[in-house]
Amino acid sequence: MTQQDTTAAVWEQHKKVIPGGVVSLNRVIDPMRVFVKAVGAYLWDSDGKQYIDYHAAFSPYLLGHSDPDVDGAVVQAIKEGKSLIGAGTTPWEGELANLLVECIPTLDQVQITNTGSEATFFAVRVARAITERDEVIIMQGGYNGWHNDVAFNLMDPHERIADYQPGEELPLYPITAGMPASAAQHVHVVQFNDLDAVENLIKTENIACIILEPILQNIGVVKPNPGYLQGLRRLCDQYDSLLIFDEVKTGFRHALGGYQSICGVQPDLSVFGKAVANGYPLGVVGGKREYMEYFNHPQPEKKVLIAGTYSAHPVPTAAAIATLKKLKAQETEIYNHLEHLGQMMEAGLKELLSTKDFPAIVARQGSAFVVYFMEEAPTNWLQIAQSHDMDLDKRYRTRLIERGIFHFPLPTKQGSISFAHTEADIEHTIEITEQVLEKL
Ligand SMILES: Cc1ncc(COP(=O)(O)O)c(C=O)c1O
Repeated sequence: MTQQDTTAAVWEQHKKVIPGGVVSLNRVIDPMRVFVKAVGAYLWDSDGKQYIDYHAAFSPYLLGHSDPDVDGAVVQAIKEGKSLIGAGTTPWEGELANLLVECIPTLDQVQITNTGSEATFFAVRVARAITERDEVIIMQGGYNGWHNDVAFNLMDPHERIADYQPGEELPLYPITAGMPASAAQHVHVVQFNDLDAVENLIKTENIACIILEPILQNIGVVKPNPGYLQGLRRLCDQYDSLLIFDEVKTGFRHALGGYQSICGVQPDLSVFGKAVANGYPLGVVGGKREYMEYFNHPQPEKKVLIAGTYSAHPVPTAAAIATLKKLKAQETEIYNHLEHLGQMMEAGLKELLSTKDFPAIVARQGSAFVVYFMEEAPTNWLQIAQSHDMDLDKRYRTRLIERGIFHFPLPTKQGSISFAHTEADIEHTIEITEQVLEKL
């Protein structure tokens, strides 16, 4: 049996008991791998093959896998009998809430969830309660979780959206079966960076909120144009709608204060997840006191239900406390290291790609990066769908994986560098990339 046969056999066996043979089916990769270990910047598959990891499990691993301080805090919490109690409050949820409020200036109060999807769900729900409106604006190419309020229009093929004109909203395409048709009645999709489209909607529809990733990082690294986020802030103020930043991917990866501390735009509500607990399951919804108090509104008909058996479970909570304490204590060192390695990666890739006869550009924010096989950095998904060479991207990623550099093998997926990566890892990655590009 070859190693590939062994992997195929494991997958076949899993298919008998798990639909598709994989838990969370967005993890299916081609060719399939069975992974057994991840430490620091590296992954190992069941054949013992080692990879430098830039997937970072869709990006939570900001400090690296199995960070000793985070895992140490988790082990300590278990040893100390910090079990889930589920009644009253606990010192550890208070400690985490205090840390979050200290780190992110726009958070007066927070609630803790298990996942990013739950946190975006509660953010939209509370926005509707506050504004007493139903309509929600989301972005084409943005991902805010799997629930019915946001699960539309991610990586749609070009022909679906080609008729779009700037200033217009887009037709809705659910990203999942099983949504009621009524879900689409209150959702509006616009292209990122199209302020006119938002303005046209916000002045005619009763918009409860705009929810968006301030940088679209589920389709690579698509940055806001200068003034775009400020424009959204102005429109929300003018029409009494709420601005929600989904910082599940951007939060803590780019700065301790979130991307909002870099762009200088203050959302009304924010959502965090992923890096906040360095790989342990935890989400956060937070914002201004006057809004967050709706979760505890004195009038029962205005009070927003937030409940979760496992919310602020002591294990992920210990992980989040340890992550935030480490980020605070070593803030300069960590973010300088991430930026330095990000710059090395960008420079190395740009040099290699400049000699090629196909168009390619590198887009990067700090430790998040991607190669687009097109002439210019895209400002929305339409441009990517129109111009990015998806086949070339797929082959590029597949060849890198074969040579021990792990990027998720789906076109445009963002790469993540962690604090555990070293200059030697980046240099090795560039060497391997050179070999891959020669053969592409
Ligand atoms: C920006 C963004 N928001 C929300 C989510 C949903 O988070 P989770 O997968 O923890 O439910 C994700 C997940 O990829 C995300 O990238």
